[in-house]
Amino acid sequence: MRVLMVCVSAHNGSTLKVAKAIAEVIGAKLIKPSEVKHEDLNEFDTIGFGSGIYDNTLHSSVIKVADSTQTFEGKRVFVFSTAGVLWQDAHAEIRAKLSAKNAEIAGEFRCKGFNTNSFLKYIGGMNKGRPNADDIAQAKSFASGLMN
Ligand SMILES: Cc1cc2nc3c(=O)[nH]c(=O)nc-3n(C[C@H](O)[C@H](O)[C@H](O)COP(=O)(O)O)c2cc1C
Repeated sequence: MRVLMVCVSAHNGSTLKVAKAIAEVIGAKLIKPSEVKHEDLNEFDTIGFGSGIYDNTLHSSVIKVADSTQTFEGKRVFVFSTAGVLWQDAHAEIRAKLSAKNAEIAGEFRCKGFNTNSFLKYIGGMNKGRPNADDIAQAKSFASGLMN
């Protein structure tokens, strides 16, 4: 399995912790959207898209990678994120875009991340300490599942 992971962790670095844990298990190359070269995507059979959730979707630069790729025919993709809350279907936008370009969605991983957005910073933030050791263990187990 040759895996590329495209990740933005713009707020508190929470998603990067998850991304590194997944990348370690599956031996993925982890890059930022600005480092994506479309001509290089052919080197990978699996592509992961991840970021924090900002206004109920992934970071616009991660979405843009999906938008600017002609097709994901023959590729497996996965989506991962950290968020303040988990009840929103914050992967819906990118999932639809990837599916529309014939990607095979191999899996999705979400967990809570530290949120100090807006007024939350004045009250010590939300989900302090997340992702925690258990979240990272679950991310690693998700990653192992990708290899089966
Ligand atoms: C501008 C902004 C908007 C956010 N919007 C949402 C949201 O719609 N839903 C949610 O659950 N969390 C939201 N969050 C919280 C982040 O998703 C959460 O803190 C996440 O762990 C950030 O990941 P990062 O540290 O990797 O950037 C928002 C955070 C910021 C800064």
